[in-house]
Amino acid sequence: MERTLAILKPDCQQKKLTGKVIDAILAAGFNIIGLKMLVLKREQVEAFYEVHRGKPFYVRLIDFMLEGPVLVAVLEKNDAVQAWRKLMGCTNPADAETGTIRHAWAETVSRNIVHGSDAVETAEKEITFFFSKSELL
Ligand code: CMP
Repeated sequence: MERTLAILKPDCQQKKLTGKVIDAILAAGFNIIGLKMLVLKREQVEAFYEVHRGKPFYVRLIDFMLEGPVLVAVLEKNDAVQAWRKLMGCTNPADAETGTIRHAWAETVSRNIVHGSDAVETAEKEITFFFSKSELL
């Protein structure tokens, strides 16, 4: 079965939405095979979002991810990468479809509640970034 990385971003914790987002993940048929709460360090966030360095939103993105704890999760399901992206909705909540997490709860493109890997190859790298093999069920 395919795996993907989910991050419940600081605004998810700030708005007390963690339970609702996890419920949505389970209701959509994902297995959560790894889960931890982390207070990320600046170097970690910069390394994770290296691909966005230099973009106009980069500094805002890094500062936001340092606002508070995140939950990182490994989700497993057939076609997990695309299924999680579909459940999250568009990056910009203004474009997100009804029934998606970002449509329901995200404020702006900068504060958009959740992250998901964009491809199977990226998912493998992102999972390894946060989890060792022994931390996954
Ligand atoms: P995420 O899926 O975590 O991947 C990179 C993040 O950068 C993205 O979600 C958004 O939160 C943020 N992002 C992407 N595009 C923009 C943008 N145009 N303005 C502000 N933030 C953005």
